[in-house]
Amino acid sequence: MCGIVGYIGPKAVDSFLIVGLKKLEYRGYDSAGIALIDRDELVVRKRPGKISELEDELNDSHLKGSLGIGHTRWATHGEPTQANAHPHSNQNRNIAVVHNGIIENFSALRKELGKTGVVFVSQTDTEVIPYLIEAEYAINKNIEQAFKNAITHLEGKFSIAMITEFEPGKIFFAKSGAPLIVAKNSETGEVFLASDLPAIVPIAQQAYYVLDEEWGYLENNSIELKTWAGEPKEIIFEKIDINNEDYEIGNFPHYMLKEIFEQPKVIKTILENRISPSGEIVFEELNFDNEYLASIGRIIIQACGTSLIAGLVGKYYFEHYGKIFTDADYSSEFRYRNPVIDGDTLVIGISQSGETADTIAGIHEAKSKFLKVISFLNNPKSTMARESDGTIHLFAGPEIGVASTKAYTAELVNLALFSLYLGKIKGVVSKEEQDSLIKEIQQIPEMIESVLHNDESIKVIAEYLKPHHDAVFLGRTFNYPTALEGALKLKEISYIHASGYAAGEFKHGPIALVTENMPVIVIAPQSEIRNKVISNLLEVKARKGKIISIISEGDTEIMEHSDYYVEIPKISESLSPILAVIPLQLIAYYTALYRGCNVDKPRNLAKSVTVE
Ligand code: M6R
Repeated sequence: MCGIVGYIGPKAVDSFLIVGLKKLEYRGYDSAGIALIDRDELVVRKRPGKISELEDELNDSHLKGSLGIGHTRWATHGEPTQANAHPHSNQNRNIAVVHNGIIENFSALRKELGKTGVVFVSQTDTEVIPYLIEAEYAINKNIEQAFKNAITHLEGKFSIAMITEFEPGKIFFAKSGAPLIVAKNSETGEVFLASDLPAIVPIAQQAYYVLDEEWGYLENNSIELKTWAGEPKEIIFEKIDINNEDYEIGNFPHYMLKEIFEQPKVIKTILENRISPSGEIVFEELNFDNEYLASIGRIIIQACGTSLIAGLVGKYYFEHYGKIFTDADYSSEFRYRNPVIDGDTLVIGISQSGETADTIAGIHEAKSKFLKVISFLNNPKSTMARESDGTIHLFAGPEIGVASTKAYTAELVNLALFSLYLGKIKGVVSKEEQDSLIKEIQQIPEMIESVLHNDESIKVIAEYLKPHHDAVFLGRTFNYPTALEGALKLKEISYIHASGYAAGEFKHGPIALVTENMPVIVIAPQSEIRNKVISNLLEVKARKGKIISIISEGDTEIMEHSDYYVEIPKISESLSPILAVIPLQLIAYYTALYRGCNVDKPRNLAKSVTVE
């Protein structure tokens, strides 16, 4: 959470920083601020609210400067106020710092600095940093040394950037646990830093992903890198190879809608990369041999939010196709429950961003128990990619909307294929079964198109849901997780309280919630236990609950019991979660839209949750 950006070059620095921050707004949008050095003097401009509000202010009075840093905040310590907005400065206003992450020992540092007369004006953890640097500078009048000494006092996970009047031509940076990239354009001499690449493309051409316990500084035309101990390090830059258009919203009103509509294309891309010309499933990037894969006795999937829900479907896949006992757990619980694990256990992490702090901590937990970790990731350059033993690329393309949509279906397709791949290696899935499933997956893009282009019934349902305060989602077996995902999508963007339940469990308590005003969304495509799902649905109906069902095309029996329904194409039960979630994404989208919610920037959320 929080995004930082820094720039040295001939462009208008304030405008460059604002453009960069807007690209990072998915990391938080509680406040925004920039700091520049203008003719050796530090100037800071910041305000609570969206970056566009800061931009309007700057349009009225531009800041001049030769270099600068910027920040977009997701509040952790203190409300989103002017005082808590970054950059943070010392009282003499000659040092400015932006920070992503959490300084865990900030209370102790505040106390220590307080004893020396420092009066803090914010509630943030960040504000200790400029004072620490100032205190170190007072000792030896060397800012490089002061920065290096100051960062060694910090505990927690952070990436920081700092500018100061004491060394007005440099931007200092340090990383420990939170993402940071430095970059350059060799033709123009411009240098950059950012939490994520989109903030600096297409101008930056070559980038380096700063590693933990590295720090350094940018100056005109060059970047210096050092170890925590202060030893110089060579930077090996990589060519930046991303398609800027993937980050543009195009003709869609929201990124979320764009990404929902991209799902057929994403699945085609996955298939192009995962199915060889001879029809075999391939995971070329996975550096594990078949002997190891065949020996896996148990799988623990650990992830957060939508990625965990994909993991719950994965549990069904690994048990059904791989015949491997599988657990799926919240990373934040897995990390601290000291799980009992055997040597033949594989830990799987799943993450769109690859930067989720809880999931990274889960990887550390697994590694501390000497277990192998494979991560399913949308960002092959992310921290999780570096920390895992093997990675599986999701091929979803950049996902900007805070509500995850296309990454979820990409996770499901990759998990389904990987479970078949393991099943084949273990000899528990036949070639015929694998081929027939692949054939069906190949039809999914077209099937999704048909749901996307028949959204009238979905809009009617969204109108119906608009005034409600609560909703319940029910599903069984492979679609129990779909119920959880439908509920998560609805609550995070429309603020309607929603819960997902295993339909068979509903009668054991939650059914008490049902009244004639309670919408109950039942995910009921064809399945082996369709009759049981119908019984669960009738139990709700008998209590006057309103039934919205997601059904297989032509299922007239469930239609008759439903107040509203959406039809999806017929498909094998195990693959139905990939289709059934599409109407649920659209229901959440339109309900949020009709309620006037900010779909792409829901309150209190950030796309990438880099704090534990
Ligand atoms: O980047 P990750 O997949 O690790 O993110 C995990 C969750 O934070 C994320 O899925 C979150 O729940 C989304 N807002 C859901 O739409």
